[in-house]
Amino acid sequence: MSVEVAGTIARVRAWRDGHRRSGARVGFVPTMGALHAGHARLIEHARRGSDQVIVSIFVNPLQFDRKDDLERYPRTLDADVRICEDLGVDLVFAPSIADMYPVEPLCTVTVKKITDGLCGRFRPGHFDGVATVVTKLFEIVGPDVAYFGEKDAQQLAVIRRMVSDLNLGVDIAGVPTVREVDGLAMSSRNVRLSSEERPKALALYQALRAAERAIANGERNARAVERVAAAVIPPDGALRLEYLEVVDPFELQRVDTIDGAVLIAGALWVGNTRLIDNITWEP
Ligand code: PAJ
Repeated sequence: MSVEVAGTIARVRAWRDGHRRSGARVGFVPTMGALHAGHARLIEHARRGSDQVIVSIFVNPLQFDRKDDLERYPRTLDADVRICEDLGVDLVFAPSIADMYPVEPLCTVTVKKITDGLCGRFRPGHFDGVATVVTKLFEIVGPDVAYFGEKDAQQLAVIRRMVSDLNLGVDIAGVPTVREVDGLAMSSRNVRLSSEERPKALALYQALRAAERAIANGERNARAVERVAAAVIPPDGALRLEYLEVVDPFELQRVDTIDGAVLIAGALWVGNTRLIDNITWEP
């Protein structure tokens, strides 16, 4: 049996109403498609943790701060639907832009403070776009639980705070980052890396691991840890470290002295591709 692909909001609401009556626990995995093993892990968690699983596939224009990134974003709907089918998804929601944004929204969602640093500093409006579309998707899908990857640590922190501040009544489950064998975090943008760029892309994870080792070896000065990590990025014209910072894991504020759990997060440009990754260090 093939998985149903719902193209309209009305269809998803009707599906949801049916399951509300039957008392099923609905698990939701929001995505932008180009599904890979990282997304698959989220779906597997949802499959185990809920009675009904819905996956959304929507490349959300509101969260792209660069037009070329939006245009070049991979779109592989047929393959995505097959993956969903294989993983036992019950409904795929693939709305059009006109469904989601019939007019330019005048009401958007902003999460302050958490979005000031890290990616927020370099991608103006990005997290407003994420918070706004996730609020809309939660309202349409009405999930009991929604799954997000730790790979996008700032996004996860933003969603958790938004759900708590606005009483959205959805459980948020964080799923550890899925990596390639060599450690590169899986990402839909990895397909853009050329064969020369692909090995270079690993530098970000190696830098994060160096930071983690420095802390494990007793370094408590966060700036010193950041310097150790940045020094791991080889001097290579194709590589540009956008940021690599040690922050607190909840509000993502920069820490000076490491005296508890910290998030070490970075963004690296590899040619024209921007990659992000992070590690949480716990004492
Ligand atoms: P997208 O980049 O497609 O990611 C969808 C979900 O998959 C996110 O929660 C992301 O953190 C998770 N994910 C991606 N790569 C992963 C990996 N290697 N390991 C574990 N999880 C991974 O994030 C978005 O889409 C959008 O911003 C969205 C939340 C759908 C809103 O538009």
